[in-house]
Amino acid sequence: MTLCLDYIFVTKRKRCDFTTLIVLTTNPYLVRQFDLTRVASPPIAEAEAWLKSSNAALDLEIGCGVGWHPIRYARENPERRLIAIEHTRAKFERFRSRLLAHPELSNLFPVHADAIRWIANHLQANSIELCFLLYPNPEPKAPNRRWLRSPFMHHLLKAIKPGGVLALASNERWYIDEACEWAERFWKRDSPLIKEINASTTPAHQARTHFEKKYLLRGQTCFDVQWHIRKGNKENA
Ligand SMILES: C[S@@+](CC[C@H](N)C(=O)[O-])C[C@H]1O[C@@H](n2cnc3c(N)ncnc32)[C@H](O)[C@@H]1O
Repeated sequence: MTLCLDYIFVTKRKRCDFTTLIVLTTNPYLVRQFDLTRVASPPIAEAEAWLKSSNAALDLEIGCGVGWHPIRYARENPERRLIAIEHTRAKFERFRSRLLAHPELSNLFPVHADAIRWIANHLQANSIELCFLLYPNPEPKAPNRRWLRSPFMHHLLKAIKPGGVLALASNERWYIDEACEWAERFWKRDSPLIKEINASTTPAHQARTHFEKKYLLRGQTCFDVQWHIRKGNKENA
């Protein structure tokens, strides 16, 4: 019965072959391989030049919204570099105009693009030390688009150096629980550090991001998870 149901599900969405179907029926934790050829495009010269311009530690923020966190992070960590990516035009424009007030921040590289495409085309394995995913859309109707269940995670984890950190924040406990479950079961990660953020730990005016502030003002608890990437972890040679 399970096999039939999975077969119908898989066939309707044309997602996987028969081998994958068999694996799915025995192991519910499966993330398709990431197909780099589907997102390949020529690298952008400006980004290549910025990446080559320094050997300082490189960090990455995916979905940085209107840019509060990247600007603050770059100011507080002048010895490090941060690439901050946002694909919604209106949010990126707010980030860019905010950044115009900080011409000194040459350690921050703002990118208006789909992060999956940009990272696949610009970031090599073992190039990132700290990767932030702060308050991503929890994708309630599209489980395969949640970051820890997405094929892109194969590439993203390879891009983080052993010794580096993957940081995820959300106000949704179920999203964090699921991410931790997939990190352990599929990605074979060690238990992460989980910190709660709420009105008693963080006044709203100290929120790192626009969304974090919104949740703190509503009296919600937010969760901040950090996975330490070790050599020998799945995807980290
Ligand atoms: C819920 S908002 C959070 C924004 C910000 N991190 C904050 O906490 O205020 C999620 C953001 O991720 C961006 N985003 C989602 N998928 C993305 C992708 N593939 N590439 C770049 N940005 C993405 C969305 O446009 C949106 O601005």
